[in-house]
Amino acid sequence: MGIHGDDIAKVRASADLVALIGEHTDIKRSGRNWMARCPLHGERTPSLSVNAEKGVYYCFGCQRSGDAITFVQEIEKLDFVGAVESLASRYGVQLRYTTQGEGTTRARKRLLLDAVAEAVDFYHQRLLDSPDAGAARGYLRSRGYDRSVVSAYKLGWAPDSWDELAKHLRLNAADLKDSGLGFVNKADRLQDSFRARIMFPIADERGDFTGFGGRELPGGEGPKYKNTIGEAAVYDKSKLLYGLHAHREGIVKEGEAIICEGYTDVIGFANANILRAVATCGTALTEEHIKLLKRFSADRLVLAFDTDQAGLAAAERVYEWEQKFELDVRVADLPPGVDPDDVAREDPAELARAVQETTPYMRFRMERALAGGDLSSPEGRARSAERAVDVVSEHPDALVRDPYLMEVADRCRVEVSRLRELASKARQKPPATAGRAQQGRAQRGGAQRAGAEREVPNAPDGETQVTRPEATLTDSLATAAEDEAIRLVIDQPDQAARLHASLFGHSVRQEAFQALRDNGFDGAPDRCGPQAADLLRRLAVEGFDADRDDVLAGVARLAGQRTLAGLNRGLRSYEPAADARIEVSRSFTWLKQELEKLDEPATRRRAIDELLPWLVSHAEWRAR
Ligand code: UTP
Ligand code: MN
Repeated sequence: MGIHGDDIAKVRASADLVALIGEHTDIKRSGRNWMARCPLHGERTPSLSVNAEKGVYYCFGCQRSGDAITFVQEIEKLDFVGAVESLASRYGVQLRYTTQGEGTTRARKRLLLDAVAEAVDFYHQRLLDSPDAGAARGYLRSRGYDRSVVSAYKLGWAPDSWDELAKHLRLNAADLKDSGLGFVNKADRLQDSFRARIMFPIADERGDFTGFGGRELPGGEGPKYKNTIGEAAVYDKSKLLYGLHAHREGIVKEGEAIICEGYTDVIGFANANILRAVATCGTALTEEHIKLLKRFSADRLVLAFDTDQAGLAAAERVYEWEQKFELDVRVADLPPGVDPDDVAREDPAELARAVQETTPYMRFRMERALAGGDLSSPEGRARSAERAVDVVSEHPDALVRDPYLMEVADRCRVEVSRLRELASKARQKPPATAGRAQQGRAQRGGAQRAGAEREVPNAPDGETQVTRPEATLTDSLATAAEDEAIRLVIDQPDQAARLHASLFGHSVRQEAFQALRDNGFDGAPDRCGPQAADLLRRLAVEGFDADRDDVLAGVARLAGQRTLAGLNRGLRSYEPAADARIEVSRSFTWLKQELEKLDEPATRRRAIDELLPWLVSHAEWRAR
């Protein structure tokens, strides 16, 4: 059961945050804000800052942030609904309820996670020493898994029985079902979910086991793998990557993650001493997966599976992710249809080479489109060109598309102008699904995107966690300037019109800015994810006291430098004398000069006014 959104807003508006905090600690005015010793973490000197006007707090000591509701949640250890109810009765707000699925509280989650962890141990022990696991041990040995691999990945054996796990864990029906470990069968008896299977426990990014992939032994009759079912309360396959927790160090260190399709591929990579592989758990890659990998500093993703198979989202999505998250997506040099796991056993050095010698995703697709055709006849060349143009026009950036179109023209010996026409036609086809509000980019091939996940800002649901500021943001200068710009907009909302989300380099800041621009401060934190919401509240209590032109110049400089780098990348892929190259190189020179003007007081304001709209329209042009 949830509470009506309007009523939540009413509760928030009637709550007096300063008074609420004042019940737990001394709170004093300090400039525009209020300061207190933070009752949430206990301290000697005040570091909790409250912006009374906006109704938000941020603690510089423990980095918790929130509003009246989150404060009550934290201090009274209530869930979201409980906190809203407590405040509502105090301030006399009448609540209306919506009838939706029951939320899972944090305590309940913990209980379910503990149950899964116990199951992991149970299955693992069974595999290690139970007589009925002999065949499973033999099978794993035959695949080259020694004892150390079995313990490193906590592999297990689910016995061939109806309910041994259920009996062992002594869970009630609801807990058994919600943990995904079992269910109530038709005879009204508790039954295990997994039976006679080799168990691959799946941990979330924190290392908590949330579910399993269970593989049958060769010659079995069910599906090869069964995974924890989607309805389990702690298992969400769209946010899980097998191997992420185990291989997080390798990923962070290399700034790269290898994405494969199966649990055994991840282990195969590790056996070949390549310690940065992850796999989705029987699902296509989602944006949640990408965000997760970015949190672990992966700026390069190497796809080590057959990208034409179900494992990947539509190409347009991949390019969007590349732009939005500043990612480089590449494809490993594996022959089609070959499992990394097989290569790992037969020739580990070859596997290492395959993930070293990678191809950018775009080029990979173009080469594939060209590969099948007969380039020896004019008809064959025309058809190949058309296929290649179809693939190239999926890319959202004109600067990237064009050199590829020129290459296609060259290799298929057709006029590039004709291909450009084809490409722009292909891009004008209306998207099959409604455009996504956040990006609003032209999209094609909507039908392929059946598996694509929704992208909805988090609604308050009582499970919003206190998130620390992004750990992966290496460029603190950049974030400082962008934060300053967001502070400016919180303080002077009319300035939002001069800025645009595309001017921000980090996805969290883009999200925060967009929410602010669309909803004003009061509505913004509710309409974005927890990281962006946290950021907004912190910036609100920090307040704005910088020089407006400094801030705008800072944003223009950063966005300009990023654009310069983009133009430069573009230049490298053009033929020396191409018209488009001359065009791009002109933009490059102009932009460089304008950026220099930002540093001169006499020319600065003018440069800001010229640069901001140019950068925004350049970003739009590239996205056209
Ligand atoms: P594969 O069939 O490629 O298996 O499925 P695999 O990972 O290579 O396993 P081995 O080497 O034959 O033992 C790849 C992934 O697809 C999901 C699983 O996540 C699996 O790891 N899958 C596959 C299922 O969910 N169900 C199935 O029946 C098969
Ligand atoms: Mn395999």
